[in-house]
Amino acid sequence: MVQEFRENPFLLDKPQAYRAWRARKLDTYPKTIAELIVEVADLAHPTPAERSAIVSVCRRANMAIFRSAAGAGDKSAIRAFGQAFGLVRLDANLYADDDGITALQVSDVERKRDFIPYTNQRLNWHTDGYYNTPDRQIRGLVMFCARDALEGGENHLLDHEIAYILLRDAEPRFIEALMHPQAMTIPANCEQGVEIRAAETGPVFAIEPGTGNLHMRYSARTRNIEWRNDPMTLAAVEFLQNLWEAGCDYVYHYRLMPGEGIICNNVLHNRTAFRDDPASGKKRLMYRARYFDRIAATNFSDVCSAPNLP
Ligand SMILES: [Fe+2]
Repeated sequence: MVQEFRENPFLLDKPQAYRAWRARKLDTYPKTIAELIVEVADLAHPTPAERSAIVSVCRRANMAIFRSAAGAGDKSAIRAFGQAFGLVRLDANLYADDDGITALQVSDVERKRDFIPYTNQRLNWHTDGYYNTPDRQIRGLVMFCARDALEGGENHLLDHEIAYILLRDAEPRFIEALMHPQAMTIPANCEQGVEIRAAETGPVFAIEPGTGNLHMRYSARTRNIEWRNDPMTLAAVEFLQNLWEAGCDYVYHYRLMPGEGIICNNVLHNRTAFRDDPASGKKRLMYRARYFDRIAATNFSDVCSAPNLP
């Protein structure tokens, strides 16, 4: 490992380490979505070559798009696929089916209809599980498209490490503000006067103890998010909002087709609105698996010690 990478670049007081890591990150960040796509013949049993191609892309962009034969993705295959990348500890959320993998589609069930993921509306920029408790943070994510919509339902994706770079380059105090333990509060979730989830307060950016990885919890929703009321936090939030509105070259746009999916270290993403046509079988169905694990061999230290990255 070269000298600069012995220090954690995400710490504000290590500018040299940051400069070295930043240069390498931007240098190796895939320029086109095509570089993210890896064909996987059998989803449940990725070969060593397929695995290594996916890990290599994830080391550069914290995400990869995998493409298998349409119809190949039942839940057990998705679970086995995740396991091949060290994604094991599933987060069973409120509506996850018993096996911890959630089928996302437009729902007629009244309770689910209140949640945007179960509608055809656009989903704002976020990382998954931003309302989770600190001990249940989501580090890995697999989304698989079983059926696509008639139109719409595109994902926009941005490596959260790139978001960190854009913020820090604009104003290092943005990072300081977003690392504050009270930066972002998600108010309690109440249904009919009963609290079903307590309020969650925590940082946007955190450096994970042990691994030194950068973790991000974030939502661009304007309702139901309370930002710490200090000028630098609010300016950082505004910076991100402007970024979403203006767009940037680092953001990937992709509309998953049946048989395709995204595996990632819980990068920033959104979803455009979509329209189903059940009569013709065009009814969007996505499977989503959220993990407490990060993709194996994509730790910050693995990336920085790999000598032969493209
Ligand atoms: Fe999500």
